[in-house]
Amino acid sequence: EPILFVTSELADFVKVGGLGDVSAALPRALLNHYDMRLLMPAYREVIESIWPIRVIAELPGLAEIPACELGRIDLPEGLTVFVLLCPELFERPGSPYLDENGREWPDNAIRFARLSLAAAQMASGAVTADDDGWRPALLHLHDWQAGLAAAYLRWQGDDTPCVYTIHNLAYQGLYAPEWMSRLGIPEAAFESGEIEFYGNFSFMKAGVIYSDHITTVSATYAREITTPAFGCGLEGLLSECAAAGRLSGIANGIDDSWNPRTDAYLACAFATNDWAGKRANTDYIRRMFRLAVSHGPLFAVVSRLVHQKGLDLTIAAAEMIVRAGGQLVVIGCGEPPIENALRNLEARFPGAIGVHIGFSEREARCIFAGSDFLLMPSRFEPCGLSQMYAQRFGSLPIAHRTGGLADTIEDGVTGFLFDQLSQEAFQHAINRAFRIFGCTELFYAMRRAAMAIHYQWRLSVTPYRRLYHQLMTGDAEHTS
Ligand code: ADP
Ligand code: GLC
Repeated sequence: EPILFVTSELADFVKVGGLGDVSAALPRALLNHYDMRLLMPAYREVIESIWPIRVIAELPGLAEIPACELGRIDLPEGLTVFVLLCPELFERPGSPYLDENGREWPDNAIRFARLSLAAAQMASGAVTADDDGWRPALLHLHDWQAGLAAAYLRWQGDDTPCVYTIHNLAYQGLYAPEWMSRLGIPEAAFESGEIEFYGNFSFMKAGVIYSDHITTVSATYAREITTPAFGCGLEGLLSECAAAGRLSGIANGIDDSWNPRTDAYLACAFATNDWAGKRANTDYIRRMFRLAVSHGPLFAVVSRLVHQKGLDLTIAAAEMIVRAGGQLVVIGCGEPPIENALRNLEARFPGAIGVHIGFSEREARCIFAGSDFLLMPSRFEPCGLSQMYAQRFGSLPIAHRTGGLADTIEDGVTGFLFDQLSQEAFQHAINRAFRIFGCTELFYAMRRAAMAIHYQWRLSVTPYRRLYHQLMTGDAEHTS
């Protein structure tokens, strides 16, 4: 059956965080079972890597959402990607969400309403691709950027089934009510409370209300978001969804490119028990970050630099790590105050702390391969991919027991977990890591255990298939 996967990131072209990886891997993992195609904006990165792009349809606008063209790209492994050719909205420097100074694009509501509307137009048959007349029988929507797709469909009386996956509840797409008329949103939807959220309207809430089923990216996060501590104000609504069987957690996997034996980015390929090979990557990282030669443990951070990731705890622990004989490398970008605090750390501890502010897939992979421990004191973590990548590359995560971190790390076996989000608890976990590092046999046993885990997408495919099947046929039993 034809399914449209609607996303604002795709690692083949542009990735801000884990959504880009998931969008590249999950549809490919499902291609054996469905004619799954992807819809995303034609950002500058897309145009720069593929040009010309074949135009296959014209998409009408709505209110202030401009009309645009729909292009088609055929990527390796049989993945077809439809792209929105709308230069005035999408061909810009900066990230999909922020300008070059880190400020949200002021027209993000229009940009992602354009994405959502296009999905609805394709599903309702208002437009069809004129090369093969393709039309999706189900929409799989991702995060707030696609949240209005289900709404646009329902407002025109179309009941094409929609699955809505929440990758991060903290980003909700909240806009002042004045925006509604600009996006062609009926007043009644606001007045009835369906998309209203404390006086604003919410893309996220629209996704939750109008989709048939909501998933999120780990079992623990699916429970957490029904509580006030993690629900970002939507816990009441999400509890109702859970009670009605409309909310479930399906964990992300990692794709085969995350393999220390074959990863071409690494300074030296290695495998379990080839600790000399792993050490060659550590030496490489030390040189890359101008760190002193050392026999102590190498700690790492690979992260978006945002409040969610608890970098304040890492920054506060850095001096203790250095005093205890450890070193720290960081790659990340995000909020300027966090970037500056990290730069200051590097200046205070030259030779022991190295910081690269920026985004580099290659450096990220080298760091997973070269480090001994990955620090992830996230305040919340819907799934988290970095800890899985680190484990695969023999770097043990030290993480807060929350969301997907709780589900993917076995404390004392494949990493270290701490329960309370406090400096004391985090430092205690770091101290445990130092002690284990000193007991070579124990440390290597943990490394082996971490590297042996297989977080294959195959495992997530079955629950998604069951869900799609149920929604497309109304039949709860899965038949293959
Ligand atoms: P999130 O989606 O919240 O950022 P995840 O752990 O799910 O967290 O995914 C983050 C992804 O982004 C991982 O693939 C990680 O390696 C990558 N990443 C984060 N920051 C950087 C960076 N500065 N350079 C390269 N890759 C990065
Ligand atoms: C979000 C979450 C992260 C998750 C990723 C992919 O960005 O912050 O935990 O792994 O989406 O689902």
